[in-house]
Amino acid sequence: MKRRVTKAVFPVAGLGTRFLPATKSVPKEIMTLVDRPLIQYAIDEAREAGITEFIFVTSRGKSALEDYFDNAPELEAELRKKNKDALMETLKTTYMDSGAIAYIRQHKPKGLGHAVWCARRLIGDEPFAVILPDDVIAAEKPCLAQMTEAYAETGGCMVAAMRVPDEKTPAYGILDVEADTLDRKISVRGMVEKPPLGSAPSNLAVIGRYILTPDVMNTLNDGKAGAGGEIQLTDAIAKEIAHGRPVTGYRFEGERFDCGSKAGFLQATVSFALARPDLSDEFGRFLSEIVPVARAAE
Ligand code: UTP
Repeated sequence: MKRRVTKAVFPVAGLGTRFLPATKSVPKEIMTLVDRPLIQYAIDEAREAGITEFIFVTSRGKSALEDYFDNAPELEAELRKKNKDALMETLKTTYMDSGAIAYIRQHKPKGLGHAVWCARRLIGDEPFAVILPDDVIAAEKPCLAQMTEAYAETGGCMVAAMRVPDEKTPAYGILDVEADTLDRKISVRGMVEKPPLGSAPSNLAVIGRYILTPDVMNTLNDGKAGAGGEIQLTDAIAKEIAHGRPVTGYRFEGERFDCGSKAGFLQATVSFALARPDLSDEFGRFLSEIVPVARAAE
């Protein structure tokens, strides 16, 4: 089986209800951390991992997402006329090579597993990455690049993993592992989606980066619903283990922000703004002034 990963699936067909009313007309993935939409972070991470084919699984109301990757000739002409070279370079990061990007529709939000399955014909017979843009990971070496490097040695399926406290385990897919060592690569012997509080097999949660074999697509053909009545990707990956094929948890280096939740999105906004040389002084000063005031008011 080929171990070079060149295709990535971006499931972006969810309803994004936690961000209503904004997501009534703005796709969650277009919401910005400082000045870049979530989807731009995901695309940049994929590019840096060597991905050349980008497959978006979209749904009704996501046309702003498709437009985002189009060329913008009028805007470009205006920037050139005004010699705004830096902005021109920024604009170019949103451009995609012709034929490099594909959009597939998920007609009903039947779950993440179903969304990934919608891309099966474009994936064919090769391993592929899955990136959930609402998991934003700040890292020196981007998370997916860390994983593709490790994957060249392991093959099989690989999921990004991170320790979470006990009370958070019901919100995640949780890994069942022999021993929760500090190794980056952890052999997985089972996976459970959203275990009830107190029943999680470990504290290792699956985060939105995956490298999967086409076998997972075959399993998803069954269309069986799992936790929450949704077709779960976790269940299909767990089947790989049942079939005796290796699944590895990859404990990535970096800080992950859950931008699918309001608190996570705000934390990411503050953190990314503070990391920006053009904003850190002014914004840092503002924070250092308001934080003590907020504390005193508590
Ligand atoms: P979430 O569980 O965050 O759901 O999906 P959501 O609809 O985006 O947001 P909330 O919970 O209503 O606020 C995780 C990822 O899986 C995709 C989402 O777009 C998101 O990237 N997804 C989920 C689909 O593409 N299709 C689905 O049927 C479900």
